[in-house]
Amino acid sequence: MTHGQDSSLPPPEHAGRRRFLKWLTNGIGAAFAATLGVPALLYLLDPRNRPTPAGDFRQVTKLSELKEGQPVALTIKEVRRDVWTIHPNDIVGRVWLIRRGDTVKAFTVTCPHLGCSINHEGDRFVCPCHNGTFTLDGKRADPGAGRRNPAPRDMDELEVRLTPAADAPNDRIVWVKYQAFIQNQEAKVARR
Ligand code: FES
Repeated sequence: MTHGQDSSLPPPEHAGRRRFLKWLTNGIGAAFAATLGVPALLYLLDPRNRPTPAGDFRQVTKLSELKEGQPVALTIKEVRRDVWTIHPNDIVGRVWLIRRGDTVKAFTVTCPHLGCSINHEGDRFVCPCHNGTFTLDGKRADPGAGRRNPAPRDMDELEVRLTPAADAPNDRIVWVKYQAFIQNQEAKVARR
C-alpha cells in the first residue's frame, strides 16, 4: 500500500467498472422506456384510438342502397383496439332500416320483451321467441290466431341522421345512433 492512500476506498479500476455498470444499467432502462413509451404515447395521441363514446352516430349505408318500404337488416360495427391488436369489425349491434321517401327509420333488432332478434316477415316484424309482433313502423301489433303479444312497448327506434355523400351529390349517407335499451318494461330507457 502506498503511503497516505485510504484502505477503505476501492482501487481506481473497481470504481471505473462500477461507473460503467451504472451507466450501462441506466442506458438499458432508458432504452426500454423509449421502446415501450413512445409507441404508447403515439397510440394515445392518435384520435382514432380513443374509445368511441356510447351512443355515437355510426355510418351504416347510403340512402340509394335502400328500397322504398323494404326493411333491411344491417350490422353496426366499430374499430376496437386493445394494447396489441386492432379489431376492425367488432359488431356493436344490428338494426332494421326502412326507407320512407327521403327519410329513413331505424329500429334495433333486439326485441323489447326479452331480447331475441326480431325478424321481418311480409308486412310485419315478428320475434320468433314469443310471437312479439310489430308493424313495419315498429308499432306493437296483434299477432293473430288468439295469441298474445308479450312485447311491453313498440320496437326501439333509433335516431337517424342523413348527410350529403361526398362522391354522389344526390345521395345521402345514413348514420344511426346505436343504443341498447332495458328490456321487459313499458318505458324505453337506454342502458348505460
Ligand atoms: S323475446 Fe321477443 S317476444 Fe319474447
